[in-house]
Amino acid sequence: MLKQLAISAAVALALSAGAATAAGEDGIVETFDFSFKGPFGRFDQAQLQRGLKVYTEVCAACHGLEYVPLRTLGDEGGPGFSEDQVRAYAGQFEVFDEELDDFRPAVPTDHFPGSNLETAPDLSVMAKARAGFHGPYGLGINQLVNGIGGPEYIASLLLGYTGEEKEEAGTLYYENTAYPGRWIAMAPPMDDGWVDFDDGADNSLREMSKDVSAFLMWTAEPKMMARKQSGFVAVLFLTVLSVLLYLTNKRIWAPVKGKKNA
Ligand code: HEC
Repeated sequence: MLKQLAISAAVALALSAGAATAAGEDGIVETFDFSFKGPFGRFDQAQLQRGLKVYTEVCAACHGLEYVPLRTLGDEGGPGFSEDQVRAYAGQFEVFDEELDDFRPAVPTDHFPGSNLETAPDLSVMAKARAGFHGPYGLGINQLVNGIGGPEYIASLLLGYTGEEKEEAGTLYYENTAYPGRWIAMAPPMDDGWVDFDDGADNSLREMSKDVSAFLMWTAEPKMMARKQSGFVAVLFLTVLSVLLYLTNKRIWAPVKGKKNA
């Protein structure tokens, strides 16, 4: 029985590792040391704030986050804005109010605006939509080591431009080593030093790409920390329960089985 279990576990591991290399041929996705990786990973509040700034100043020109309510910027486990900060941040967007039949400044109960550019996809859940790009192949065991793949893919995409471009049917395409198919219609959106951070944090292209990817992971799964915590509590509970059940079982059967060598 134990031997069988060990063999099937080994086969499962080998299969998931094999699939990872096979699927990796599409585009080159790096592994990053995101703080939220692994079973105990947590979002880094300062990084989420920097990522939000990169999103606002760079990506929001084209991409929307229409499924993300602005008030969640103040939620625990997120960028941790105060109520005033959320209100001030929301106020910079204009939303169309059907009751007023006019535009008005956004308030915390509104969502982020949608995409400005029709061809630019909404980024609300992109980090999860692209999760399969670098991680949970096979049984997904390597998610624990490599991360779920979505944020890694987005960061690699921002870092993957080679500088080559070509025109096809009137559209410019840019060569990108992370993009499946290699040619993407998004021009390199930013470069070293494009965004300045209040705390003077590293604003190299590499760090900013990681920051905005972490932020997009948060928009896609704002309750990740709560989920991991309850998962941990559940495992702990089940472990204790198993030990108790084992002891109870021994006790119940003791009179029947007796002592073996007695
Ligand atoms: C000038 C407009 C523009 C800006 C600014 C921009 N993007 Fe894009 N983005 C696009 C377009 C257009 C596409 C669709 C490309 C395609 O389908 O070939 C795209 C696609 C994407 C995709 C999806 C790639 C895929 O796998 O389908 C991601 C992720 C992305 N952008 C992230 C970002 C991030 C993060 C930023 C900010 C750092 C950003 N973009 C800034 C225009 C933009």
